[in-house]
Parts: sequence; structure tokens; C-alpha cells
Amino acid sequence: MKIEIRYFSKSGHTKKIAQAIAEVAGVEAKPISNRLVEECDVLFLCNSVYAAGIASPVKDFLKANDKKIGVIYNVSTAAIVSSTYKGVAKLCKTYNLNLSDKEFHCKGSFSKKASGHPDATDVANAKKFAEEVLNIK
Ligand SMILES: Cc1cc2nc3c(=O)[nH]c(=O)nc-3n(C[C@H](O)[C@H](O)[C@H](O)COP(=O)(O)O)c2cc1C
Repeated sequence: MKIEIRYFSKSGHTKKIAQAIAEVAGVEAKPISNRLVEECDVLFLCNSVYAAGIASPVKDFLKANDKKIGVIYNVSTAAIVSSTYKGVAKLCKTYNLNLSDKEFHCKGSFSKKASGHPDATDVANAKKFAEEVLNIK
């Protein structure tokens, strides 16, 4: 099974979660500027929310991708909102990409909100999510 992990992360929170998933998946988590070079079965799309929106590099990645992706799992961190799933789902619909209804989300600190997150429990939960969807263990 070909697994890819891409992340966009301004302050490292989403990268931390992407790397936890990478440990489980046994592949490298790459910044979203790395386009897919071949088709894959699973893509973990690790992203966040800034000023209530999905970051442009994430939008650009989904728009530009012409490689076949079996299924995308949305993985997000945010200080306030409960997920980026809705925004990503809209983009996936637009670009005809298959987004799983399973997702991972955890808090990511910003200013005084969600202080300390993602923490060790968030990292452990992200690994558990990856194990479940990849059917490991
Ligand atoms: C400029 C900026 C704007 C943000 N706007 C929001 C927001 O509208 N809603 C929210 O829930 N979190 C917001 N956050 C918090 C981030 O989503 C949160 O810190 C996230 O974990 C950042 O991930 P990253 O470190 O991978 O970039 C904002 C953070 C920044 C830096």
C-alpha cells in the first residue's frame, strides 16, 4: 500500500502530528509544497485553520494534484474550531477527490487558547488513528 503524508504547518503543531502518523505509517511526512509524484492509495492531509480558513498552500495542493489518490484522511489542529473537515471536504468535492469520513483532529495552541497542545496525548491519539485506518496491529 502506497502511503503519502503532506502537511502545512506555520508553528509546528500540525507537523508534530504529521510526524507521529509518519512513525506509524513508516513513510516520511513531507511539507505540502512537495507535490505527489505518483499515485497513492492513502494520503494523510495534515492542515490547520488560520483566520477561519484553510491555508492557501493546502488549497493549491488539492487543486494542482493530478495524481490518483485512493483515499484522503483529513488531519487537523486548531485552537478553536473542532476540525477543518468541512472546508477540506468542500475542496475535495470541487476537485473530485475521495475524502474519508474518518478524520483526526486535536487542539493546537494559539495565543492563550489550547495552551500546551498538541500534547503527548494528542500525539498518542494521532498514532492510534493512523493504526486504525491503516489496519496496523
Ligand atoms: C494567524 C493565525 C490565525 C489563526 N486563526 C484561527 C482560527 O480562525 N480558528 C482556530 O480555531 N484557530 C486559529 N489559529 C490557531 C491555529 O489553527 C493553531 O495554532 C494550529 O495548531 C496551528 O497549526 P500549525 O502550528 O501547524 O500551523 C490561528 C493561528 C494563527 C497563527
